[in-house]
Amino acid sequence: MRLYFVRHGIAEDLTSSDFMRELTPRGERRVKTSAAVMRALGIQPQRIYSSPRLRARQTADIIAQALGMGVELADSVNFGFDLADARRLSADCDAEIMFVGHNPDMSEIVSELTGAAVSMKKGGLARVDAFAAEAGAGELVWLVAPKVFDALADNKQTGIVPAPAQKLPDVNGGLHELIRQRWSPVGFDRERPIKRETLLGILEAARWAASSSNLQPWRFIVARREDEAQFAKLLLTLREGNIAWAQHAAALMVACSRKFRKETVPNRHAGHDLGLAVGQMVLQALSQGVYVHQMGGFFPEKARQLYAIPDDFDPYTCIAFGYRATELGHLAEAQRGRDASPRERQPLDEMVFGGGWAQAANFLD
Ligand SMILES: Cc1cc2nc3c(=O)[nH]c(=O)nc-3n(C[C@H](O)[C@H](O)[C@H](O)COP(=O)(O)O)c2cc1C
Repeated sequence: MRLYFVRHGIAEDLTSSDFMRELTPRGERRVKTSAAVMRALGIQPQRIYSSPRLRARQTADIIAQALGMGVELADSVNFGFDLADARRLSADCDAEIMFVGHNPDMSEIVSELTGAAVSMKKGGLARVDAFAAEAGAGELVWLVAPKVFDALADNKQTGIVPAPAQKLPDVNGGLHELIRQRWSPVGFDRERPIKRETLLGILEAARWAASSSNLQPWRFIVARREDEAQFAKLLLTLREGNIAWAQHAAALMVACSRKFRKETVPNRHAGHDLGLAVGQMVLQALSQGVYVHQMGGFFPEKARQLYAIPDDFDPYTCIAFGYRATELGHLAEAQRGRDASPRERQPLDEMVFGGGWAQAANFLD
């Protein structure tokens, strides 16, 4: 039997509840890198048991996602996890099991199993091969610190191209966390679909946008990756450069807007209102961990023809939705560097005017 013991990643300091302490962004990033390496190493437990504490659950979820499996929460893997618990949880399994929990339990259990003096780092992993979860019955085969995972991920021989870290901009003044965190990645996770309820929430966010005279001119054609024929159809509308990465998204969309208020009266706000609805979608999506990348690079007339879009509507953009990939090995070389490029913006005084055009507003000084 092969037993993997993982200590949760770096978590935020204790605030009000120890139970709800979350991984820090750095902790999450590191666990993602470790999980990508675990996948490359072929680690494939039959089950992953996690402590119910949030930081352990988040760690287990990231690993499980990378390995394409689920997590079972087990109270016994919480504080106080011991060899008897490990024995009970592994009793009906003769292959591989992973436990994700806390110190000192994780270090103590590995020490007890193997007779070695083991100290596990946050986000570290120990592999113990044992005929049973009994004291002294195991052999310590690996003890991997997160730093080692990082180095392995950087090693070209593993074939792993870790996704770059979150791109947080330098901002003036306070910015809502969702706006600060939003950006348009090309590295989407091919394996992780967007749950129906999450997708409905994203669309609902668009539905409740403001619009001129409440005309709600927007219409959305949506294809989920799991609906293969529909997804392939929507991909046909994209330009080549966008297909290269958008083919890995979890869902694609053509965003349209109606050009007229009445039969012959143009709606000057059709594009504005669609953009506002999409803006709401983008933030609602990110609140659920789903990233959005909008595309002007598509063939509107092809979309019109494929979907029989009526003349009074225009397709404005295509949009890709998905979770970020932990590693970018599936992307073409030309795409890989894009998610690491710095984010740039014009300064406020070049876009916010006061007394006249191009005269920076006086409150900006
Ligand atoms: C209307 C619109 C069209 C866009 N078209 C494309 C596109 O065809 N391909 C692409 O890779 N990115 C496209 N983008 C993404 C922009 O390049 C991106 O938003 C911009 O560089 C700012 O980067 P950020 O979103 O990461 O902050 C588009 C964005 C918008 C809003």
